[in-house]
Amino acid sequence: MGTPELGILNRREFARRAASLGIAVGLPVPGFASPSSKKKPLPPSAAPMPSIGGADSLRAHAEGVGLHFGFAVVPELLDMEGARTQSTNDPYTRAVIAQADILVAENAMKWSSLRPTSTTFDFTQADKLFDFAALCGQLVRGHNLCWHEQLPSWFAKTATRENAQALLTQHIQIVAGRYAGRVQSWDAVNEAVHIPDGRADGLRKSPWLDLIGPEYVEMAFATAALADPQAKLTYNDYDIELDTPEQTAKRGQVLMLVRRLHARGVPIGAVGIQSHLQATGPAPGAGLIGFVRELAGMGIEVYVTEMDVNTHLLPGASEAQDAAVAEVYRNYLALVLPEPNVKAVLTWGISDAHTWLNESSQPWAVRADGSRQRPLPLDEGYQPKAAFYAIRTAFDAARQPVAIGDITKSPSPDGKATADPFAPFAVPGSPSVEPKPR
Ligand code: G3I
Repeated sequence: MGTPELGILNRREFARRAASLGIAVGLPVPGFASPSSKKKPLPPSAAPMPSIGGADSLRAHAEGVGLHFGFAVVPELLDMEGARTQSTNDPYTRAVIAQADILVAENAMKWSSLRPTSTTFDFTQADKLFDFAALCGQLVRGHNLCWHEQLPSWFAKTATRENAQALLTQHIQIVAGRYAGRVQSWDAVNEAVHIPDGRADGLRKSPWLDLIGPEYVEMAFATAALADPQAKLTYNDYDIELDTPEQTAKRGQVLMLVRRLHARGVPIGAVGIQSHLQATGPAPGAGLIGFVRELAGMGIEVYVTEMDVNTHLLPGASEAQDAAVAEVYRNYLALVLPEPNVKAVLTWGISDAHTWLNESSQPWAVRADGSRQRPLPLDEGYQPKAAFYAIRTAFDAARQPVAIGDITKSPSPDGKATADPFAPFAVPGSPSVEPKPR
């Protein structure tokens, strides 16, 4: 049978073709039921390989409940030609095709990747990502337009108070303009809040703040909106998931930032909650849901943008890691997915073979026993782990509302449990907002 050209498919058509991928390609797909396994009797000891492709994929289960699922990808690793001819043997490429309906570049769209010099752009890898996504009927998130990290080495020597505004706005015009109409959402501003810097507005003392002032946030959103009116412009941040004092305070400052932008008519359409969680806890709770509902009240969507589960403090063998990681995915998604404004879940990678947690030698990444972390749905051999099934089951249950009593209550400042665990944050200086009836 000849292999038809995939061309650019719409998402429904791609889903139909992806459902038959294992058969159409005729190659063994890790975790896919192989067509030939039906013909040959299995040896008595061999259990059939569980199917995780097509209708059994994370992509299909998410789409079934109106969610998007995807993950951070490294475009350099994608076998474009193999995807085009539906013949790739590469397990990474196959996992990206089968499991994601939305992609985000792990690094390829950051300033340091796109801006080799102050006057030139290199779109090679970013273009590849968009081409791949178009071929496979996938959406793309843009990450990111304005961040204090991963600025190119020339930036510190070149950027001044006089030219910083032009540098930022021209970068956004060129990058967001290039991909206009092809981006589901752009992280217009990333990680701008940092309470330890001690500012009343919670903003981080970043190069952008130093060179432009606090208005850089609004400037980034407004410029992105003009360059790509169709993308949902997102504020993306980490350490806003838990009900610890530090994360409660940071989440409150993020909420106030969003309220300020919203009140001033700045086109913020979504908040990204990165969700880099720890296997050893503590678990997120009512504070996070209160935040998500505050955003819903402003018509703002929420995306889980970078989820993974760090096991650096968890003792035990890989089985213990896998069970703990799956438990965190299960509980976290059961907590947030019933909220109707939560529209997408992205993990920070798909396989333990490629994760920033195994690339870092920082104390917060390295396990005491020296073993590698296992934070993602697939293992290093691209086989599904307990986390994969926990995510898939959570998607199936996604739109069932959670009873208030099911969620851990946030501690109140006086130590007594609050009567309404979803009451708005009591953040000093924050305008009071009546909770929306649900
Ligand atoms: O590409 C260079 C390579 O040429 C060089 O030889 C090598 C030497 O260190 O570095 C390579 O660049 C690294 C890059 O990842 C690509 O692997 C950088 O040093 C390294 O800092 C960079 O780390 C990335 C980090 O963001 C900083 O940009 C991680 O891969 C990426 O997972 C991480 O992602 C962030 C999100 O963007 C924002 N939220 C937090 C998340 C995790 O930190």
